[in-house]
Amino acid sequence: MSDPLHRLVGSLARTGLTRLFRRLLDDAPDLFLKDLTVEAVGPDRMVRVGGRWVRNFGSDSFLGLDQHPAVVDAVARGVRDWGTHNGTSRAFSSVAPQREAEARVAAWLGAEDAVIYPSVTLANAGALPALATRHDVIASDQHAHNSIEEGARLAKARGVRTAKFAHNDPADLDRTLHGLRPFRHAVVAVDGVYSMSGALPPLQQLQAVARGHDGFLYVDDAHGTGVLGTRGRGTVRDALGGYDNTLVVGSLSKAVSCLGGFVAGTKSAVDVLKLRSNPLLFGGPVPPPYLVAVCAALDVIESPEYPRLRAALDANVRRLISGAEGLGLTVLGGRVPIVSVRVGGEDATLRAGRFLFDAGYYVQSVVFPAVPHGAGVLRVQVNANHPPAAVDGLLAALADLAREVPLPAAEAVAVPA
Ligand SMILES: Cc1ncc(COP(=O)(O)O)c(C=O)c1O
Repeated sequence: MSDPLHRLVGSLARTGLTRLFRRLLDDAPDLFLKDLTVEAVGPDRMVRVGGRWVRNFGSDSFLGLDQHPAVVDAVARGVRDWGTHNGTSRAFSSVAPQREAEARVAAWLGAEDAVIYPSVTLANAGALPALATRHDVIASDQHAHNSIEEGARLAKARGVRTAKFAHNDPADLDRTLHGLRPFRHAVVAVDGVYSMSGALPPLQQLQAVARGHDGFLYVDDAHGTGVLGTRGRGTVRDALGGYDNTLVVGSLSKAVSCLGGFVAGTKSAVDVLKLRSNPLLFGGPVPPPYLVAVCAALDVIESPEYPRLRAALDANVRRLISGAEGLGLTVLGGRVPIVSVRVGGEDATLRAGRFLFDAGYYVQSVVFPAVPHGAGVLRVQVNANHPPAAVDGLLAALADLAREVPLPAAEAVAVPA
């Protein structure tokens, strides 16, 4: 007789998404490039997988700072100076690099203050429930990152009413907030860059609607941090002129290539998070070596080297997008380092990713539930340290792919905003 844990796990394995993934794995074990193990990392974004070297177009280290000597040295220096971890919740104490990293993030963005969580997932799961009570509501974009949804769910469990509005649609936000009335304040939660499509939100219009309903904007700009906007400060400041009535969430694990997620805004809002946000009270911090490295990464981002890195990144993005469009492929979203090429069905999307992998290029095949059913994409993450010739090589492989697998042409599908 099996024990209850065994039986429970057995029945969980037959539910919803787990069943879908199992079916894909069982039907096409060679196609599904999931849970890959990278055995070694080489220069210029080469990685060894299964004994083969391929070019990695699946990294969020958009600026290549994960390989930057100043950032790498900072982690090593941090370990020497502070050990591997300080081993306490921030409710009791923080190391000086924590304070320094938060002050540096706030000064870089031009915000009053910032607080760093161990990840953006924890920032969203911790900040959203802390920012609303049962008198308030949370309205989030239907395509907002899963961690925003999880944060809203936690808030809902504490009595906050929540709703989703249609993707990038200020008029639907307005209708949704009307439908939620009466309430005291509204948290309007969106992504700064939608991580599967690269789409950008209409922040000004969303802010106007939020204000009209006594609400504020909460923008998860994880993919904008370091690579979009003036001096890499992300999408929010350039779009809105500042951080009035706005909290911005950013990533220290993607372009910044260290670890963590921050929430930045007014000092009073950050102070409230430090008192009300459970991951900051009951959980541990980013380990000190990575906080030292955040400061080193910001040194690079604020140095004359940054415009060169950004120019290399932006040139690679332009090269890939114009090349893919030249092939007649459907490229979704804005001109951002996440370039999503529409494929369609789950099977075709996995097959397309496998084809490129066999040609020496790893890109992410993204299928349901990360995107709607039947709307799979090849998600190409462009980095500053991809040699332009590697981008050309990927384009040549995409051209070969388009001859093998029918890919939807640009005019054949409606491109989401
Ligand atoms: C918009 C957005 N928010 C949050 C996350 C999760 O970030 P983290 O890995 O720091 O938890 C991601 C990851 O890709 C993201 O795209």
